[in-house]
Amino acid sequence: MSGLIPQDFIDDLIARADIVEVVGRRVQLKKAGREYKACCPFHDEKTPSFTVSPGKGFYHCFGCGAHGTAVGFLMEFDHMSFVEAIESLASSMGVDVPRSESDKPARRYDELFSLMDSVARHWQALMKETPAAVNYLKNRGIDGATAKRFGIGYAPDGWSNILDKFGQSSEATERLLATGLVIRKDNGQHYDRFRDRIMFPIRDTRGRTIGFGGRTLGDGEPKYLNSPETVLFHKGRELYGLYEARQALRNIEQLVVVEGYMDVVALARHGIDFAVATLGTATTNQHLNQLFRLTENVYFAFDGDPAGKAAAWRALENALPQIREGRQLRFVFLPEGQDPDSFVNDRGADAFVAAMKDGVALSEFLIEGLSSQVDMQTVDGRARLAELARPLVNKIPAGVYRELLVESLAAAVGLTAAKLEKMIAGGSTTGRKPVASAANTGATRPQGPGAGNPSVVRHALTIILNHPEAGRTLDVGKLAGVSRPGTDLLRAVIETVRAEPNISTAGLLERWRHDAQGRHLGKLTAAALPVDEDFDPEAELDECLNQLATAGRKERIDFLIEKQRLNGLSDDEKSELRALTVGPRNVK
Ligand code: UTP
Ligand code: MN
Repeated sequence: MSGLIPQDFIDDLIARADIVEVVGRRVQLKKAGREYKACCPFHDEKTPSFTVSPGKGFYHCFGCGAHGTAVGFLMEFDHMSFVEAIESLASSMGVDVPRSESDKPARRYDELFSLMDSVARHWQALMKETPAAVNYLKNRGIDGATAKRFGIGYAPDGWSNILDKFGQSSEATERLLATGLVIRKDNGQHYDRFRDRIMFPIRDTRGRTIGFGGRTLGDGEPKYLNSPETVLFHKGRELYGLYEARQALRNIEQLVVVEGYMDVVALARHGIDFAVATLGTATTNQHLNQLFRLTENVYFAFDGDPAGKAAAWRALENALPQIREGRQLRFVFLPEGQDPDSFVNDRGADAFVAAMKDGVALSEFLIEGLSSQVDMQTVDGRARLAELARPLVNKIPAGVYRELLVESLAAAVGLTAAKLEKMIAGGSTTGRKPVASAANTGATRPQGPGAGNPSVVRHALTIILNHPEAGRTLDVGKLAGVSRPGTDLLRAVIETVRAEPNISTAGLLERWRHDAQGRHLGKLTAAALPVDEDFDPEAELDECLNQLATAGRKERIDFLIEKQRLNGLSDDEKSELRALTVGPRNVK
């Protein structure tokens, strides 16, 4: 029955529904922190154990276990069918339930992408007609071919150029607003966001323009103005230049992360096609995920000044959960006052590549950075170093890389590796020990057949249900060949959040409403997760997938070895076994 109503509409409706209002109109709710409480309407009780979480769009009773979304609540409480509940919710929100495929809200996305594309091309055309803009690029050493490759354009001065050209109807203006191209004033009028700026389109991995960065031609403030976060554009996830790099290179052997748009463009102008920039933010775990999916050799280039060093240290901290054998991360420090743009213009591409080669390996940078904070000449200082290292080392997944790093650190501190490892593992950390890395220790030790912790799948599902946004960059490929119970469900949930980046917790639950396996999802959503600030759902999810991949590989190896013993192996199986036993770098 629900097939008649487009899934996107249901997702959208559930994401926007206010569960507190829906429940609150029927049950008296009391605010308690971020949640709301009441005596459970589904069983008799005197003390309230019924909780409504507006963030997740989810209710749960600790007494009787009842739980669900706004839709589920209407079905239970008002005894509605699923379709009736959707209709009731829609009408209370003042929207009509679309019945045909052509009404799909998904169309809106296509329209937004095509609007961004038209605007980018419009600005590109204007660039050619504007000598001041062309000269600006020329003065910065950028030739026409490079400008074209990056789609660089020019937004002329004026408050309504884009508004007049692309905002002729109220729907069109809404689209301009949704993409951040215009700004709405308090009085309801609109004006262009980007005026008299050199425009850099930011493209997603498929080459669609999702946002812009605009630079003043002179000394105006701010120097760069960026698109706001929109449904298309999430700063923490995008890397400027990645699409262009993938277009230019057949094989990506390395990627270098720089700070600015102009750094990427200037490097490309000099034939260094493998630079990408974060968009005025620190490197996030999502960025690193994307980078390491493409290559095992990642460089970070920073200014040699103290601010650059501080930024590098932040990047190091964020990168630790991603580090493992086979992956190489180097920190490149340019001479003080130079950025990659000025450096490559002054000294050329070869010098930049040489500076990359001279980059400091992550382990070196970590040990140097820690040593510089303590007095290594004293026993106290060295003990303090071990103390400082603990939270950092604990972020690195257990494995060969971590063991080697601990050995180097131990040598620096003058302890045996075993002793240091013990201090790192056993010390009374104030924070919570990451759940997954605790389990991970188990997964890398020798285990019996069918080994591994089945709850890793549950744990991953629990996180992704509670933090759907953290699942968007997960690599489901890691689950290939993993046969653990629940893996299919996990894979399907990951694929859903990847395909529908804006889906909410409640939206996920509704997707699986009609599925036998999906009945467990509500329970997992209600399961407690750590709430402290350190908890990094993305890193934890990634770690869960790595553990499953490792365990899956081990199962396959065991199977092949056993088969070899009993029946012998085919040629294909032999080479598979060989590939599997070479090392973790074969895990995709
Ligand atoms: P920088 O200030 O280092 O500028 O900002 P830059 O890249 O060297 O710029 P040019 O060479 O003067 O043109 C680095 C990055 O930080 C973000 C932008 O992404 C920029 O590329 N940024 C900087 C902003 O978002 N807004 C600003 O006002 C400044
Ligand atoms: Mn610069």
